[in-house]
Amino acid sequence: MKKYDIALYPGDGIGIEVIAEAKKVLNTVADKLGFSLNITEFPWGHRYWKEHGKVAPDDFLSILSDYPVILLGAIGDPANVPDHITLVPLIEMRQKFDQYACVRPAKLFSGVRSPLADRKAGEIDLVVIRENSEGEYVDAGGFFKSKTSDGMAMQTAIHTRKGVERIIRYGFETARKRKNKHLTMVTKSNALKYGMVFWDQVLQTIAPEYPDVKTNKYHVDAMCMALVQKPQVFDCIVCSNMFGDIISDLTGAISGSIGLAPSSNINPERLYPSLFEPVHGSAPDIAGKNVANPVAAIRSAAMMLDFLGESEAAAMIENIVESYLNDQKFLTRDLGGNATTSEAGSEIIRRINSR
Ligand code: NAD
Ligand code: IPM
Ligand code: MN
Repeated sequence: MKKYDIALYPGDGIGIEVIAEAKKVLNTVADKLGFSLNITEFPWGHRYWKEHGKVAPDDFLSILSDYPVILLGAIGDPANVPDHITLVPLIEMRQKFDQYACVRPAKLFSGVRSPLADRKAGEIDLVVIRENSEGEYVDAGGFFKSKTSDGMAMQTAIHTRKGVERIIRYGFETARKRKNKHLTMVTKSNALKYGMVFWDQVLQTIAPEYPDVKTNKYHVDAMCMALVQKPQVFDCIVCSNMFGDIISDLTGAISGSIGLAPSSNINPERLYPSLFEPVHGSAPDIAGKNVANPVAAIRSAAMMLDFLGESEAAAMIENIVESYLNDQKFLTRDLGGNATTSEAGSEIIRRINSR
C-alpha cells in the first residue's frame, strides 16, 4: 500500500476549521482508494505564539523539510499579533523551499452564482500562475528615522532573469496543456520601468519557443477591469508575486467566493516540500463561528494528492465538489446557503462514501 507523509499546518482562525474538514476528506478518499496517509499536525501560529512568544519554532523549516508536502489552512491573527510577524513562516516556506510556482485556478461552477451579472457556469475557467519566490516579496528594504517626522521606508522588488524566465516558462507549459492555449502576462511596464520592462523583455524572448500558445499582455489596472468585464477571455495568467496575490483574490471572488479558491505553491524540481493552501486567509470576521466554506481547503488537498501522484483521488474530490455545488444543498453562507463548515464537509464526505 502506498503511504504518504504530510505535514499539516492548520494555522489560525478559519484555517483550523477548514483544515479539519480537508483532513477528514483526505482520510476518506485514502481509505476508499487504498492508500495511506501519515499526517503530522503542527499547531503553529497564534496558539504557539501565546506559549513561546514566536509563531513557529526556530527550526520549523528543517522540521518541514522531511515532508514532501505541507497542507496549510491560513495564518494570521491581526488582533493579537501583527501580520508582518505571523506571516513570516508562510513567506519563508515559499522562498526557502523555492516554491516558485504558485498555481491558483478559478472556475465558476454550476450551482454557484458569480457576483458578476449573467455569468454562466464554465464561463470563468482560468488559472493564475503567480511568481512566488521573489519580486515584490523579497526582504529588501528598511526604515530610516522611521519614528521621526523625517522618517522614510524603502521596499525594493527584485526580479531575476532566472526567476522571471522560469515562471513565464511555467506559464507557457501550463497554457500549452489547456484547451485554449492562451497565456496572458500581467505587467505594469508603463510605470515600473525597470522591473516590469524586464518582464516584458523576458516574455518576448521566450514566446517564440511556444508558437502553439497565443500570448498577450495587460497592465495590471486594465487587467482588473477586464477580469470583471470579460473574464471569459482569460485562460492562463502569469504574473509577478504581488500582482498574482491581488488578482487571485479577484478571480476567486468573481468565481462565486474566495471560499472555493484553492492554491498550490510548487517547487517543480521536487528538491523541497511543496505547499498547498486555500487562497483565502484566516478570516477573523467569521472565525470560531463554524461558517467558513471548507471547499477551498478541500480542493487544495486535492491538488496536493494530484502532486503526490494520486490523480484518481484528486479527480474524485474535484468531481464530488462539483456535484455538491451543483445540487445546492448544504452550501455555506458565502454561497447563499446556511450550512455550517462541518455540515458542508460532512456532506462532501457522505458523497465520497456513497461513490
Ligand atoms: P481573508 O481572506 O481572511 O478574508 C477576506 C474576506 O473573505 C472576509 O470577509 C472573510 O470572511 C471572507 N472569507 C475568506 N475565506 C472564506 C471562507 N473559506 N468562507 C467564507 N468566507 C471567507 O483576508 P483578510 O481579512 O485580508 O485577512 C485575514 C488574515 O488572514 C490576516 O491576518 C491576513 O494577513 C491573513 N491571510 C493569510 C493568508 C494565508 O495564510 N495564506 C492569506 C490571506 C490573508
Ligand atoms: C496569499 C496571502 C499572502 C500573500 C499573505 C498572507 C502574506 O495573501 O497567499 O494570497 O500575500 O501571498
Ligand atoms: Mn492573498
